[in-house]
Amino acid sequence: MLTFALSKGRLADKILDMLRKLNLCDLTIEDDDRRLVVESGNYRFYLAKPSDVPTFVDSGVADLGVVGKDTVLEENRDITQVLDLGFGKCRMCVCGKVSDGDKYKYISNLRVATKYPHIAKEYFDSIDQNTTIIKLNGSVELGPVSGLSDVIVDIVESGRTLKENGLEVKEVIHDLSARLVANNASLKTKYDEISEIIKGFEKLVKE
Ligand code: PRP
Repeated sequence: MLTFALSKGRLADKILDMLRKLNLCDLTIEDDDRRLVVESGNYRFYLAKPSDVPTFVDSGVADLGVVGKDTVLEENRDITQVLDLGFGKCRMCVCGKVSDGDKYKYISNLRVATKYPHIAKEYFDSIDQNTTIIKLNGSVELGPVSGLSDVIVDIVESGRTLKENGLEVKEVIHDLSARLVANNASLKTKYDEISEIIKGFEKLVKE
């Protein structure tokens, strides 16, 4: 039996679509669905909050997971990224007010609002800029708009949220997309089964 941890939310429809095409699971999830575990043939699927997928995979209760690279980077777990699934493409960026120009570069203790404190700290440490990281749980763009922070580190997809709030991308930190991730021990002990799954996903990604 192979166990998957799947991300509920934004990426879910596309993940389920791929699983159907690979004949792994014929699952559809309605908005009011409360199931957390689904079994199909030789596969078990845990429907997890995206930020928890790396935890399930790292612990070994799931052999494989599908999750955004943003979460892989933020959670920083000892798991293996086996494949870029090519969907859910977006960018992790430093963003700030259009009217502030590049002022943020010269602020000695930059206030950074973000849902991604680990990614934000790692980036600003790498360029030797001191920061105070302010953790927010959503609507991060409110940081600079309200004066809570100088900049944000957040996901930009269409760029609409930034534009409608007088903000812009200052720096792109990472290109992001959905990833197939694996437990390190499972990669060895269930090598044949997992290889088959990876091959199937690879074929779909190339289509
Ligand atoms: C994400 C992200 C941005 C927005 C970017 O937020 O944090 O706010 O989407 O998308 P865009 O570039 O297409 O406008 P999400 O919708 O997940 O909601 P949240 O702000 O409540 O976390």
